[in-house]
Amino acid sequence: MPKQTAAYTDYLQETMAALSDPGCLLATQGKDGTLNAMTIGWGTIGIIWGRPVFVVLVRPSRHTWKLLEENGDFTVNVPPPELRKAVGLCGSRSRRDHDKFLETGMTPVPGQRVAAPIIEECVVAYECRTIHKNQVVPATLAPAVVKDCYRSGDFHTLYYGQILGVLADPDARERLKG
Ligand SMILES: Cc1cc2nc3c(=O)[nH]c(=O)nc-3n(C[C@H](O)[C@H](O)[C@H](O)COP(=O)(O)O)c2cc1C
Repeated sequence: MPKQTAAYTDYLQETMAALSDPGCLLATQGKDGTLNAMTIGWGTIGIIWGRPVFVVLVRPSRHTWKLLEENGDFTVNVPPPELRKAVGLCGSRSRRDHDKFLETGMTPVPGQRVAAPIIEECVVAYECRTIHKNQVVPATLAPAVVKDCYRSGDFHTLYYGQILGVLADPDARERLKG
C-alpha cells in the first residue's frame, strides 16, 4: 500500500526509539544526482522559528556532509526491524567507495517535496529542507562532551531541516513493534 501523509508528531516515540537503536537513515542527493544513505543515531525533532524542524548532526568526514553542503534537502527514514543489517552497512561504509542502495537492495524513490530520496522499504520518512546550519563550537561545549564525543575533532555540523512533509506506511506502528 502506498505511503500516506502523516503529521510530524505522529511517530515521535517510534522515531526516537529507532534513532537510539538501530539508527535511522539520512538520505541525501548531491548536485550531480548522487544518492546516499547514512545511518544516524543523533537528531531531534522540535519546533523552531514557528516551524517543525528535524535537526541532524553530521561530521565533516562523512560523504553525506559533502552532499548536504551541495544540496541542503534531506530525508530521515525510520527502518523496520528487518532492515537492521542494511542500517549497519549504511553506518560503516562510505558512499565514496560504496553504492549503498545497490549493496543493500533498498529502493530510493524521489521525495515529493524535497530533492532527496525517500527509502521505500522504510516505514516513516520525514522530508526536510535545511533552513539553518551551524558548527559545534568546542569552546562552548561541556568539556565532558568534548572528551566523550570529539577525541579526534571532526566536530559535527548541525543541519536544521524544516519538515515539509511526513510519509508513512499505513501499518508503520505495527511494523516498528517488530
Ligand atoms: C548506529 C550509528 C549511528 C551513527 N550516527 C551518526 C550521526 O548521527 N552522525 C554522523 O555524522 N555519523 C553517524 N554515524 C556514522 C556514519 O553512519 C558512518 O560514518 C557512515 O559510514 C558515513 O557514510 P557516508 O560517508 O556515506 O556519509 C553512525 C553510525 C552508526 C553505526
